[in-house]
Amino acid sequence: MALKSRHILGLKEIEKEEIELIFDTAESFKEILSRPIKKVPTLRGKSIVNLFYEPSTRTRTSFEIAAKILSADTSSIAVSTSSVVKGESLKDTVKTLKALGCDLLVIRHFSSGAPYFVSKIINCPVINAGDGCHEHPTQGLLDLFTIKEKKGNLSGLKVVIVGDILHSRVARSDIWGLNKLGAKVRICGPRTMIPQGVERLGVEVYSDLSKAISKVDVIIMLRLQLERQKGGLFPTLKEYSSFFGLNKENLKLAKEDVLVMHPGPINRGVEIRPEVADGLRSVIEEQVTNGLAIRMSLLYLLLGGKEDKGA
Ligand code: CP
Repeated sequence: MALKSRHILGLKEIEKEEIELIFDTAESFKEILSRPIKKVPTLRGKSIVNLFYEPSTRTRTSFEIAAKILSADTSSIAVSTSSVVKGESLKDTVKTLKALGCDLLVIRHFSSGAPYFVSKIINCPVINAGDGCHEHPTQGLLDLFTIKEKKGNLSGLKVVIVGDILHSRVARSDIWGLNKLGAKVRICGPRTMIPQGVERLGVEVYSDLSKAISKVDVIIMLRLQLERQKGGLFPTLKEYSSFFGLNKENLKLAKEDVLVMHPGPINRGVEIRPEVADGLRSVIEEQVTNGLAIRMSLLYLLLGGKEDKGA
């Protein structure tokens, strides 16, 4: 089986069977990560470009490392030191990269829809590494993969996503993916950070954190995206933290074997207390490692890798 789409633009468009294929492939790639020499020739000769119009640590670095493990050539463009600062358009930037022999483009952009626009003008696969407040499909996939790895199956699990849902592209990708795999999804946050009509996506909405996390299997805490907020969505960080922060006490309301997740970067002490972020129920570091396996899987599947993944 192969992916139906040539691009990974959002989890809204991906079918359940495609998600399962991405997971099966990621599982076989995880074995390579435990080898002393983490290098296979699978994508030798392929050129992968990371074009990031917003800051990133996890996503950009894991795409770079994933490409290197698979022996692809990789270039990362920090927009602040590119010709974008001289006024070059997104369209001309992308056409230039294609003329330089790019075989696959990874793009993060502050505008929702930018990766869709790019996919129409560049004749190679495009991966959305986060577009505005729209989607972050590779984060969504690594979140789902981590839950599956820990719980065996997502069907019937109660998962709550807490925080700034309005500005969160991670929340949107997680909701699409969790619903496709049969989880029961709750969202919780201040009313000012809950998008109108979000129930239509198949989620239950809560504004009381204690009720939202009661007996859940998984808690996904979101970063408060202060850089995207125009202000006035909550009175103070202290008040936000007292109503919507995860701490040792309210964590007890969830199931005993609950998973605590966060896409990062974390505002420690705001949406999550450090002792919970670093505690026994936290799988935040495993999410990061799984991000590598998921991104290797996507590069392999989109670039038509050969059958032998780990020669
Ligand atoms: N989760 C995530 O997208 O992190 P970065 O912004 O560091 O890539």
